[in-house]
Amino acid sequence: MKRSVKEISQVARFETDYEAARSPIIQTITNNVCGCGYVGSSWTTRSEAEEILKHLELDRSDNLLDVGAGAGWPGLYLTNQSGCKLTLLDLPVAGLRIARERADTDGISNRVQTIVGDGTNLPFPSHHFSAVSHSDVLCCLPRKLDVLNECRRVIKGNGCMVFTVISIVPGLSHVDFKKALMFSPGFVESDSDYHSMLLSAGWSIIRCRDITKEFKESCERMIKAESEQEPGLRRLIGNKEFEEGSAIWKGKLSAIKKRLLRRELFVVKPS
Ligand SMILES: C[S@@+](CC[C@H](N)C(=O)[O-])C[C@H]1O[C@@H](n2cnc3c(N)ncnc32)[C@H](O)[C@@H]1O
Repeated sequence: MKRSVKEISQVARFETDYEAARSPIIQTITNNVCGCGYVGSSWTTRSEAEEILKHLELDRSDNLLDVGAGAGWPGLYLTNQSGCKLTLLDLPVAGLRIARERADTDGISNRVQTIVGDGTNLPFPSHHFSAVSHSDVLCCLPRKLDVLNECRRVIKGNGCMVFTVISIVPGLSHVDFKKALMFSPGFVESDSDYHSMLLSAGWSIIRCRDITKEFKESCERMIKAESEQEPGLRRLIGNKEFEEGSAIWKGKLSAIKKRLLRRELFVVKPS
């Protein structure tokens, strides 16, 4: 399907962001926020990756698909910990290149493949993967139900999918909705809620955990980490971008505290 201008520009932005994220300053900030030790762009923390690992119950016989895999966080961590095979799929090539390099460094490239592809039209046969994950990806694309349908198609009957997603809290006033939208990922809006979409795509919800408190704490760590790195960050990205970035984190934190935004972790299985 043809992508919109907004989707195309998001891919370009992620390409730039993944390259920039390799700089030691951004690495320090990411590690302060998520504690991950990888190039990451979601809010997924090390302890959430442990939770994903626990729910997926991965071992060497499994093959995991990570959709919207970015530069390999948390997919590479999950395969490093479990020994499973891993397919990383995303649209920006820069992130996947970083992921491949990291897999080489970690000595696990024999069980990791990277594929440039679209989550709404997965280039795999049906019932191929024993596990699927995605981290804050559905809020970064418009056709969420297509992704949930495609993940359902490619997973085995006894498989498990775990994902995190940011959404706008339902029932807000017009003013609050606009504020939430301003500080959300680019495609946070959806016609239907995630519970309804999952059911209609053939998934049973095993668990849905509200991780907004953790999201708020990560956002607080981001503000602190960026302020600690302020001189270097200003040199790296420029004064204007630094100030715009700081305003966005503060606005996001305020939206989370006012309960306009939430983040959830879903564990689902084919129904
Ligand atoms: C918030 S980032 C998460 C990246 C990575 N999983 C992480 O945790 O750092 C969201 C990712 O979703 C990807 N994405 C957006 N639309 C997509 C689509 N249609 N198909 C596959 N990936 C997509 C973006 O390119 C981006 O890398």
